[in-house]
Amino acid sequence: MKIEEVKSTVRIQRIAAHSHVKGLGLDENGVPIHTAAGLVGQEGAREAAGIVVDLIKSKKMAGRALLLAGPPGTGKTAIALAVAHELGNKVPFCPMVGSEVFSSEIKKTEVLMENFRRAIGLRIRESKEVYEGEVYELTPVEASNISTSGEKIISNVIIGLRTSKGSKQLKLDPSIYDSLQKEKVEVGDVIYIEAGSGTVKRQGRSDVYATEFDLETDDYVPLPKGLVHKKKDVVQDVTLHDLDVSNARPQGGRDVISMMGQLMKPKKTEITDKLRVEINRVVNKYIDQGIAELVPGVLFIDEVHMLDLETFTYLHKSLESPIAPIVIFATNRGRCTIRGTDIVAPHGIPLDLLDRLLIIRTLPYNIRDLGQILMLRAQTESLKISEKAFNLLSDIGAKSTLRYAVQLLTPAYQMCKVNGKAEITEEDITDVHQLFLDAKRSSKFLSDNKAKYML
Ligand SMILES: Nc1ncnc2c1ncn2[C@@H]1O[C@H](COP(=O)(O)OP(=O)(O)OP(=O)(O)O)[C@@H](O)[C@H]1O
Ligand SMILES: [Mg+2]
Repeated sequence: MKIEEVKSTVRIQRIAAHSHVKGLGLDENGVPIHTAAGLVGQEGAREAAGIVVDLIKSKKMAGRALLLAGPPGTGKTAIALAVAHELGNKVPFCPMVGSEVFSSEIKKTEVLMENFRRAIGLRIRESKEVYEGEVYELTPVEASNISTSGEKIISNVIIGLRTSKGSKQLKLDPSIYDSLQKEKVEVGDVIYIEAGSGTVKRQGRSDVYATEFDLETDDYVPLPKGLVHKKKDVVQDVTLHDLDVSNARPQGGRDVISMMGQLMKPKKTEITDKLRVEINRVVNKYIDQGIAELVPGVLFIDEVHMLDLETFTYLHKSLESPIAPIVIFATNRGRCTIRGTDIVAPHGIPLDLLDRLLIIRTLPYNIRDLGQILMLRAQTESLKISEKAFNLLSDIGAKSTLRYAVQLLTPAYQMCKVNGKAEITEEDITDVHQLFLDAKRSSKFLSDNKAKYML
C-alpha cells in the first residue's frame, strides 16, 4: 500500500464570527485567564474544555461524547472552536451543523459516517528509500525529436544532490520533472525523492542561502547529513476520509489495495460501505504492524437538536465502534421534542444517548464580560467606536443577546461611514438599533400587531 500521495481533504476555517478566538486561554495549570486567547469569562466551561483537550491529547477520550449546553450566544460554538485550536492541526477536527444531514441526495447516515471518518486521523510512519540533498544542478535534457504540436520533449532530467557527506548525480524520468516543477524546486533547495514512487518533496531552502535576500519568507533547512541515497523515516497525517476519497473509483471492482495511493480524482465518486470495510481492514493491519497509529480527533455537531431519532440511533451505535472519534455536541435548547417524534426530552436528545454524555454548561454573560467581548469584536473587525456608543451597545447586549449586539457593530460602522465619520457614535448605534430588530422586540411587535398579519 502506498499512502504518500493521498491528498488531505481537511476543511478550511470558514466561520468569521469567531475569528477572534485563538484558543481556550488557560494558564499552565489549566486555570482560565479571564481574558486570553480571544475568550472572555465563561471560566467554568473553559476549564472543563481544557480538561477534555488534555484527555484527547493523551488519547483517553475516544468514543466519548460531550455536550455544550446553554442559552443562545453564550459561546458554545466559540469554545468548541477554541478546543480545535488547542488540539493543533495534527489532530483532526471536523465541524458540522446538525441540519447538514438532511440532504435530498445523500442519506442522513452517510453524511454522519463521512464526517465521522473525517474526524479520525491516521499517522503513518514509514521507512523509505530516498535520495535527499541540496540541489546543485537541475538540467532538463531535451530529446532530439519534436512532438507534433511543436513542443519540445524532455527525454530526461539530470539532477545533482549534495549532502554534508557527498554528492550524487541522478538521471530521472521526465515524469519526475513535472513533480519537480509542481513543487517549484530550484537550485539551492533541499528536497528528497522517494526511490519507489518518484514522489518529490521540497523541504525548504538550504540555509547556506539564508543571507541571500533579507526579505525572503522561505523555510530554511540545514544541509542534510549522511549519504544522498539512504533510508528515511517519513511521517504522514491523513484522515480515514482522505483514504476513502483517494480510493473511490466510479467503476469499482478493482483491487483496493493496489489502488491506495493513486491520486485523488477531482470528480467526487461514490464511497461504498464495502470500500470502507476494506480500508479499515488494511488500516488495522498497518496498526498491528506498528506502521500506523490511530489519532482519534473531534467531530463537532453544532445545533444537535436538529438531528432526528434515526440519526441519534446511528450516532449512538457509531460511538461504540473501536475507532470512534470524540464527539462534541452543542445546543441552546432546553426541553423539547426529539425531531421526528413527539417525545419530549432534555435538549431534544434521546435519554439513552444523553445518559452517556458529559455535559458542560455555559452561562449568560454579565455586562462587564459582554463589553469586553464587544471590544474584542470591534478590534478584530478594525472598527473605531466612541466610549459612549460602546456603553450603549453593551446595554443593548445585556437586554437582548450578545450576538445581536455583535451583529449591530458592522451596520453601525457602515452608518457612520455614510455620515462621513471615522468613529461609531451613540447616534449610529441608536439608528441601527431602530432599523434592525432583535428577536425579542420582533416577537413583541408580532404579538402587538397580530391582527395585521395572516394567520
Ligand atoms: N467567552 C467569549 N469570549 C469571546 N467571544 C465570545 C465568547 N462567547 C461568545 N463569544 C462570541 O460571541 C458570538 C456568539 O457566540 P457563539 O456563537 O459561540 O454562541 P453560541 O452559544 O454558540 O450560541 P447559539 O446557541 O445561538 O449557537 C460569537 O461571535 C462568539 O465568537
Ligand atoms: Mg452556536
